[in-house]
Amino acid sequence: MNIKRLLWLLVAACSLPAAAQLSVDGYWIYHAREYGSIVLSLKQSGDTVAGLNEDRKTPFTGTLVGSRLHLEQVTNFHGKPFTIVIDGARKSNDEFEITEIAPGVRPGESFKTEGSLRRVDREAIYPPRAPLPTLADRPDNGLVRTPPMGWNSWNHYHDHFDDKTVREMADAMVSSGMAAAGYQYVIVDEGWSSTRDANGHIIGNARFPDMKALADYVHGKGLKIGIYTSPGPDVCGGYTGSMGHEEEDAQTFADWGYDYLKYDWCGARRIYQPTQADLQGAYQKMSMALAKTGRPIVFSLCEYGWGDVWNWGTQSGGNLWRTTHDISDHWESMDTIGFTQLAIQEHSTPGHWNDPDMLEVGNGGMTSDEYRTHMSLWALLRAPLLAGNDLRTMTDETKSILMNKEVIAVDQDPAGLPVHRTTPQGTSEVLLRPLANEAVVVGLFNRGTSPSPISFRWDSLDLKAGLGGKMLIARDLWRHEPITVTGITYTATVPPHGVVLIRVAVDPTQR
Ligand code: GLA
Repeated sequence: MNIKRLLWLLVAACSLPAAAQLSVDGYWIYHAREYGSIVLSLKQSGDTVAGLNEDRKTPFTGTLVGSRLHLEQVTNFHGKPFTIVIDGARKSNDEFEITEIAPGVRPGESFKTEGSLRRVDREAIYPPRAPLPTLADRPDNGLVRTPPMGWNSWNHYHDHFDDKTVREMADAMVSSGMAAAGYQYVIVDEGWSSTRDANGHIIGNARFPDMKALADYVHGKGLKIGIYTSPGPDVCGGYTGSMGHEEEDAQTFADWGYDYLKYDWCGARRIYQPTQADLQGAYQKMSMALAKTGRPIVFSLCEYGWGDVWNWGTQSGGNLWRTTHDISDHWESMDTIGFTQLAIQEHSTPGHWNDPDMLEVGNGGMTSDEYRTHMSLWALLRAPLLAGNDLRTMTDETKSILMNKEVIAVDQDPAGLPVHRTTPQGTSEVLLRPLANEAVVVGLFNRGTSPSPISFRWDSLDLKAGLGGKMLIARDLWRHEPITVTGITYTATVPPHGVVLIRVAVDPTQR
């Protein structure tokens, strides 16, 4: 062999793997340390790479130059464009190390996260869909006649929590007085599941080694416990989901002693269509599986309001259903979600509740006035009250908001009637809701940024609660003091983003 040929062979030997590395065409799972996984498909043409988020069907544009991958996606984040940037360094043909600039929780914020991008077969992310049942109305399971109350791990921890955290939260729920105020369910959101054992049973991951022992512990505190999975093969962050194992998983949850299931669409997005038929069918399937266990398990639908779930949530067996995308801990998110709920109020009925997402009270992103607005609005909406903060370290102010028994009583009022919105005056809103026992609650909300006088007429209440002509007594539910009923109107100066919440009732001596 001459030297030229030897050199050529050497170059060929070195460049063959490199040539094999050139194409990134195909499917990839991007696992970000901060928030879980997304599935991407990539298509390369020269140095140009086109990508698609397979869950959301949103495009990326990018390049692959040598071993450096660069992807960008312009998203709409709180009404403003935000560019997500993913940079990858190729480690092998099938793996990149990633850094990403992603939107933060609040408008204008961003954060840097790291992760990995791994090539997968199409079949791994698009397994065949599990069959769905023919749609048929589910019987009422008789649970949660008033909106459920409790704590959920997601808002404060995302998936960075463990068995110990949940136990400590159950301890704190009792020791802080939350349990005595009515909070009952301790709900383990995404992050507990691992894989399936040899018999196909879902099991907890290293942070949740014994899900039954955890349930026993929480029950030992006199509380109830909730768990989380998805109709898809995995949940949002890539943890194991329940597709094709619905009956087994329902039975496992029942055997472990769980009392509440949050069933999050997330990982189902790649498998099923976001049509009412698929959504309703997937939820009905799990409702049937839960009923088959014979254990009373509250069924919480989480599909962000798709397919106008409030029209069919009850038929699919739901006790509550999320009506919106995820809340975050700032005013714009809470205010927008809260007030848009007013249009669908009549769809909440005892045992079947609209769920505008969990509380952010105590997480630090809003002022105390804003958190009082959050709590008042959720109570008026008859929303589930699921605290989303660290119950072990609550300030007195946070406790006074989450454990305001007079406001909780509005949420839990046995009449369960919808709230009525009067015509907004600029940024001032007056909401009225009839309560049991000839009472009405009035919320005066200032959505603006400067203090504002807001009024209502005492005689406007009789339209809603039949109070006409009788003596009234009124009480400020945040100041915990009586208000003198006098004159034609009542006016309060409401702080920016604040609320005054008043309960008005017929004087019992006049009934
Ligand atoms: C979705 C849900 C959230 C939470 C996360 C977990 O975003 O809406 O409430 O459960 O998934 O990944």
